[in-house]
Amino acid sequence: MEIKVDGSPKIAIIGTGYVGLSTALILAKQGCGVYCTDVDRQKVDSLEKGISPVYEPGFEELLQDMKQAGRLHPTTDIQGAIAASSISFICVGTPSKEDSSIDLSYIVNAANMIGKALANKDGYHLVVVKSTVVPTTTKKLVLPELEKASGKKAGKDFGVSMNPEFLREGSALQDAQEPDRIVIGEMDEGAGAVLAKLYEQYDCPVLHTDLDTAEMIKYTSNSFLATKISFANEIGNICEGFGIDVYEVMKGVGLDSRISPQFLRAGAGWGGSCFPKDVMALVAAARENGTDPILLSKVLEQNQVQPLRLIDLATKALGDLAGKRIAVLGLAFKPDTDDVRHTRALPLIRGLLDKGVMVSAYDPKASENFKLLLDEEERSIIIFTNTALDALDGAEACIIQTEWQEFRDFSPKDLVSAMARPVVVDGRRTLDPVRFINGGVKYLGIGWKND
Ligand code: NAD
Ligand code: UGA
Repeated sequence: MEIKVDGSPKIAIIGTGYVGLSTALILAKQGCGVYCTDVDRQKVDSLEKGISPVYEPGFEELLQDMKQAGRLHPTTDIQGAIAASSISFICVGTPSKEDSSIDLSYIVNAANMIGKALANKDGYHLVVVKSTVVPTTTKKLVLPELEKASGKKAGKDFGVSMNPEFLREGSALQDAQEPDRIVIGEMDEGAGAVLAKLYEQYDCPVLHTDLDTAEMIKYTSNSFLATKISFANEIGNICEGFGIDVYEVMKGVGLDSRISPQFLRAGAGWGGSCFPKDVMALVAAARENGTDPILLSKVLEQNQVQPLRLIDLATKALGDLAGKRIAVLGLAFKPDTDDVRHTRALPLIRGLLDKGVMVSAYDPKASENFKLLLDEEERSIIIFTNTALDALDGAEACIIQTEWQEFRDFSPKDLVSAMARPVVVDGRRTLDPVRFINGGVKYLGIGWKND
């Protein structure tokens, strides 16, 4: 398992998902030797073949380049990878438990494996927590586990840092290479200095904090962004009632530099692997710690009901939905990914099925992953198609749940000729309402002047 690099550090990535693989690829690109480790053999085998286990723009090309350059080595030998490296990044998942609090079992397991490898390793090693973890996890859980499993002392024999990741799926590589800021939570200056050196080529502010603060910065960012979207959604719902276009409103609002135009796109609600689980985890952790977060609880509640507004709009257009055929376009939680974790398509489709709707569904990348979220009966009733036009064929309405570019490229004629009734319910302001209305389509949308 020999990686040859000149002078640059060798890195072990523990957990090769979106964050682990992005970190691995970027560090390899800047010259480091990177061991990509995972407990999932299938993932490692796929990486070994130069195939990205997830659909993410740029992953596969860079993976093949870095393997060819001999700087990236996928492996299930986690202990061996740590032994051969000077820095380990913990990038394992931190999903929700049944009670919506954070499941830290993968983190503890990773810390235990690193600790065991450190027990027999000479020289200083830096352990970096990159996964999103609730405040005090690194200090009170990871650090003691490392000391227990290694029999060594943090600060003396090894260092600990918490370095949250802010990338988005669909633009993971670009975000990770052009961050707005780097946050280095450090147990001591020595640990922070190693990480600062690794990131010295980045042209952005670098903030050094203690471990708890770094953890809290990550949760605060995600909770704020989720709140900002829910706020836009609520204003969008109010705008609809007044016959005002929320996108025009938010254009005027976002020009205020204190607010910024980003994350003000009203729609069917926020999904994905992180906003839902992180807001829930922060609420649960706060409660456990004696604080009841009123605002964030309401933000979660607003996001539960928001996708169901699409069903209200379809009912407004078609009347009773029972027995009608509706095409749902877009199953991924956002465009340019095949990730369906917490996708708003699930409550939407379940709501439609409850009303007796015959659903045809299409997504350019995420259909297979979406099927795994369904029970057998649901899978057998929904018609999954290979093209958008097949899903639209004969439908009495279509609901756009994910704003994929191929839906943006529709012309009014495409819908008029394919559908039984050209009715569009747009959950993401994918289409230009005026153009489609002028083209003979009945257009309804979140935050649009639906009559
Ligand atoms: P993921 O589920 O895509 O990948 C996690 C990987 O860790 C899996 O492949 C799993 O097999 C592996 N793993 C679990 N236990 C392991 C162990 N002991 N040793 C080695 N591998 C192990 O997760 P992700 O989306 O990359 O997220 C990872 C963390 O980063 C989470 O805490 C998440 O909240 C955070 N985060 C994610 C994103 C994102 O866009 N996905 C962005 C920022 C932060
Ligand atoms: C989000 C954050 O943007 C990242 O900074 C963070 O690192 C990541 O979570 C994480 O911690 O995992 P991501 O979930 O990949 O990234 O995607 P976003 O682009 O933030 O979209 C999340 C959801 O919000 C999607 O369902 C999207 O459709 C929705 N959204 C986004 C809106 O409804 N309106 C908007 O204006 C923006």
